[in-house]
Amino acid sequence: MKTVTLSTLQAFKRAGETFSCLTAYDASFAHAASHAGIEVLLVGDSLGMVLQGHTSTLPVTLDDICYHSRCAARGKGASLLMVDLPFMSNSSTERLLQDAGALMRAGAELVKVEGEAWMADGIRELTRRGVPVCAHLGLTPQSVYQLGGYKVQGRETEQAEQILADARTLVEAGASVILLECVPASLGKAITEALDVPVIGIGAGPDVDGQILVMHDVLGVTHGKTPRFVKNFLQEGGSIQQAFKAYHESVKARTFPAPEHCF
Ligand code: KIV
Ligand code: NA
Repeated sequence: MKTVTLSTLQAFKRAGETFSCLTAYDASFAHAASHAGIEVLLVGDSLGMVLQGHTSTLPVTLDDICYHSRCAARGKGASLLMVDLPFMSNSSTERLLQDAGALMRAGAELVKVEGEAWMADGIRELTRRGVPVCAHLGLTPQSVYQLGGYKVQGRETEQAEQILADARTLVEAGASVILLECVPASLGKAITEALDVPVIGIGAGPDVDGQILVMHDVLGVTHGKTPRFVKNFLQEGGSIQQAFKAYHESVKARTFPAPEHCF
């Protein structure tokens, strides 16, 4: 695989080609995912749940994410490394810039931040300073207590229109990528068609530009209730390497997500 950059993702979008993304938290799994052809690796704050055993992403600190970013960066190969800004990094612009700086120094090539249209100023300041941003909309897990649980967002027309409007505002402010979590497939499609930037989806239907899953879900090692949009690829793959490959190839061929994974 050639080194994946933002330009690669933009070219995929223009060509109507999908790309795959997977979370990675250490060098070994990052290497395996990259070797399987997965274009984007995310050091997600989902590490609070799948690595640390918490029930939400809120307890994850900047130091936790930096540590895992440094680990994953050493194994990332040609894949693009995206890293999550932790809960409350967006409490002020100054803190946002400091925290994003720490992530970039730890190996991030794209930082992801949760938040609606009000994040526009912060995103503008980050991109001005050379930090590319992915804006995470729809179900934003750092707001789980506000949202009253991990629920599909944008089912009603008014809320769907709001998410689309927020996405437009954040792209105008400089966001290079949009990530949509748990929205109806029809909304995933509408937002992807409306925007010039790549749109990554998780539980956002088949018609987005890229798909992302949490590694532990792909390998079937998540305990408790698994969300509708996940698929265990280890069953058909037989090995971790083959599971990553099967996931990557299913995304490229648009056979994943299937209707049963969508809202
Ligand atoms: O933290 C994470 O793993 C994420 C993905 C679910 C998109 O944000
Ligand atoms: Na996250």
